[in-house]
Amino acid sequence: MTIAILSALPEEQGGLVKILEQREQFQYAGRTFWRGNRHGQKIILGLSGIGKVAAATTATILLERLGAQRIVFTGVAGGMGEGVQVGDIVVAQQFLQHDLDASPIFPRWEVPGYGCTQFTCDPTLTTLLFEAANAYLAQTKTNNLDLQKHDAVLMQSARVHQGLIISGDRFINTLTESITLHSILAAAGYQALAVEMEGAAVAQVCNDFAKPFAAVRIISDRADDNAHIDFPHFIQQVVRPYADHIIADFLQRQS
Ligand code: ADE
Repeated sequence: MTIAILSALPEEQGGLVKILEQREQFQYAGRTFWRGNRHGQKIILGLSGIGKVAAATTATILLERLGAQRIVFTGVAGGMGEGVQVGDIVVAQQFLQHDLDASPIFPRWEVPGYGCTQFTCDPTLTTLLFEAANAYLAQTKTNNLDLQKHDAVLMQSARVHQGLIISGDRFINTLTESITLHSILAAAGYQALAVEMEGAAVAQVCNDFAKPFAAVRIISDRADDNAHIDFPHFIQQVVRPYADHIIADFLQRQS
């Protein structure tokens, strides 16, 4: 049973390539992939690039061309919910496309033809990701040597959340937009914890092919006026050990 680990950017994938045995790199449709083994399990690592279409194409390649039977996404996101801070981890339970609006033909956020606004993540994979994320934070709080001082302080209060992640083809870079988006969704009963640009697309593709999907997102910024500064700092300086530890632990738990 092959599992695919997908990220948008190489930094989000961290050093996962190195944990693969008998690994080979290849390109397909302009994307970079690695194939290898870990704990006797076949693994494909993929990089989609940014945005819903790029993510959907890559997810389709993974399932239809490369034989992946499950997809797990790992990457960063902007924090939205109250108390979802930079350095926290969000394990997705559902995904919604916040920029999908075919109203008045369909209700806002409903995916035309699907009769739903959200796609639910696979509960088994999600539980394992949640356990791996908690184990990583517990470990980091006692040994944060591989982080800069500033980030080590941040890690001390980091938490793991589970819930709704929203996706759209927009980098949310103002507090006004973030608050507006969060409160419009909240008024309709959706409590968005984080925003990113790929997850809901991958969730929809996995739904189409009836394949399990799960996702973990590390909060790189608060989707506010500082997001364009916090995001690149986090991507360059902080995210790498998250992916390495959480995904390696997750793979061990589910093998
Ligand atoms: N991914 C990380 N931060 C983000 C933001 N602020 N908006 C959209 N996607 C993101």
